[in-house]
Amino acid sequence: MLVSSKELLLDAQKNKYAVGAFNTNNLEITHAIVRAAEAQKAPILIQISAGALKYAGLEFLPMIVAKAATEASVPVAIHLDHGPSFEVVMQSLRAGFTSIMRDASKLPYEENVAEVRKVVEACHAVGVPVEAEIGKIGGAEEHVVVSEREATMSDPDECVRFVADGGFDFLAVAIGNAHGFYKGEPKLDFDRLDAIRERVDIPLVLHGASGIPDHQITEAVERGICKINIDTEIRNAFIRTIQKFVAENPDQIDPRKIFAPGIEAMQAVVEHKIEIFRSAGRA
Ligand code: 13P
Repeated sequence: MLVSSKELLLDAQKNKYAVGAFNTNNLEITHAIVRAAEAQKAPILIQISAGALKYAGLEFLPMIVAKAATEASVPVAIHLDHGPSFEVVMQSLRAGFTSIMRDASKLPYEENVAEVRKVVEACHAVGVPVEAEIGKIGGAEEHVVVSEREATMSDPDECVRFVADGGFDFLAVAIGNAHGFYKGEPKLDFDRLDAIRERVDIPLVLHGASGIPDHQITEAVERGICKINIDTEIRNAFIRTIQKFVAENPDQIDPRKIFAPGIEAMQAVVEHKIEIFRSAGRA
């Protein structure tokens, strides 16, 4: 069933688990995510980025995801990932998204607040919750590219101010997490997370969770992360599995047969994440 992310994240916050937010670009990834959530009886967010909207068509991909969400036996919210502008946010609301991120974290503080407030006013008018980010999460996620030098961790004092000034619903934090593949083993700054958690009472979001070892994810959930974003590991499972299948079956030209093992591999990744997020059985 299609739901708002607010009810999902407030329940996660209350009961100390995290809801998985999984990125999709197409029909196959969407199927894999929903099948995993149903198998694990878990609530989920399906995320669409501006890049995915551009690739698949502003209306096509949300229509596929909305249909999958409506028919799913578990609660599903449709989330705009890293909304780059007011325009894309408005287009997403019109396309039926039930959750929005406005990412203006690259801008100076006051401009970030102003951009977020504009979106909050519009989204809250139609009952849609908003995620915003403070600090700069490193790595590359579509149009969001932050070099190691530019990356800055979220400052707990600034988080408190940002939540009060911005009026949004979920806070994405930079605590040593980065988008894309990590170069070495990532090390989340749990003291920083604790300091933010103690002072901020809205649900906290962890981006860049692909490649973070399971034990650190579990600890992040125990310390109050309520939404966890995964994209890279899903893509990796899809493409690597297809590459292997095609290498082993060079005469196969039926896309359905080629994609099938890729969908299964993605489903396995998503099911595992749901387990370590402790959201299995919460639907
Ligand atoms: P990964 O690149 O680590 O999968 O992160 C995805 C993400 O944070 C999307 O917003």
